[in-house]
Amino acid sequence: MDELLIRPMTEPDLPAYKALRDAMLAGHPDAFTSDAETEMQRDLASYRSRLPSGTDSGTLFTLVALIGGRIIGALTCEREARRKVAHMAQLVGMMVSDTHHGRGIGRALLADAISRLQASPELAQVTLSVTASNRAAVGLYERMGFTRYGRLPDAVRLPDGRRLDKDLMLRRLQA
Ligand SMILES: CC(C)(COP(=O)(O)OP(=O)(O)OC[C@H]1O[C@@H](n2cnc3c(N)ncnc32)[C@H](O)[C@@H]1OP(=O)(O)O)[C@@H](O)C(=O)NCCC(=O)NCCS
Repeated sequence: MDELLIRPMTEPDLPAYKALRDAMLAGHPDAFTSDAETEMQRDLASYRSRLPSGTDSGTLFTLVALIGGRIIGALTCEREARRKVAHMAQLVGMMVSDTHHGRGIGRALLADAISRLQASPELAQVTLSVTASNRAAVGLYERMGFTRYGRLPDAVRLPDGRRLDKDLMLRRLQA
């Protein structure tokens, strides 16, 4: 079987990244805050915002997971420029293709992201939000050391009328 490779995303990856993201948004409306219809209209150039910004703020990195040269997973890490909150990073856009769930790829993406963040001593903690009913994702985050610090009720409203809560989670980065 082809080996799993995890590496930072670069510009030539953007079409495959958009294709994966569009498919995941369409297939998992409960899991993401962005909606598939709007995002599908976005042009490729706008996804450059998911490449490292080259400064200490914005996107720090997007990791992609590849098997046999094909992108089957991704995870983005962001940070705000404002000084008083610059000790925190945020994880967004965690996704693993449905064809590859349950093989440890999500865990590997998360582990790689955490060790990259831990290499920056100025970063003290990383946060994320996750649909409270998403057991696979919440379970994965808990096993990787995240704890819930709150819950935002009625955080997402779906076209079918469902209202979803978001769990707010954090993980300390330095010992
Ligand atoms: C959530 C998601 C990223 C997990 O990725 P994955 O590669 O399937 O996860 P892994 O194989 O690394 O599994 C990680 C852990 O979660 C567990 N897990 C996976 N799927 C599960 C499920 N449906 N229910 C409960 N636990 C599950 C695994 O047993 C594993 O535990 P372990 O490491 O202790 O053995 C993936 O399912 C996904 O992309 N889902 C749709 C989009 C989504 O929900 N994104 C998250 C937005 S916050």
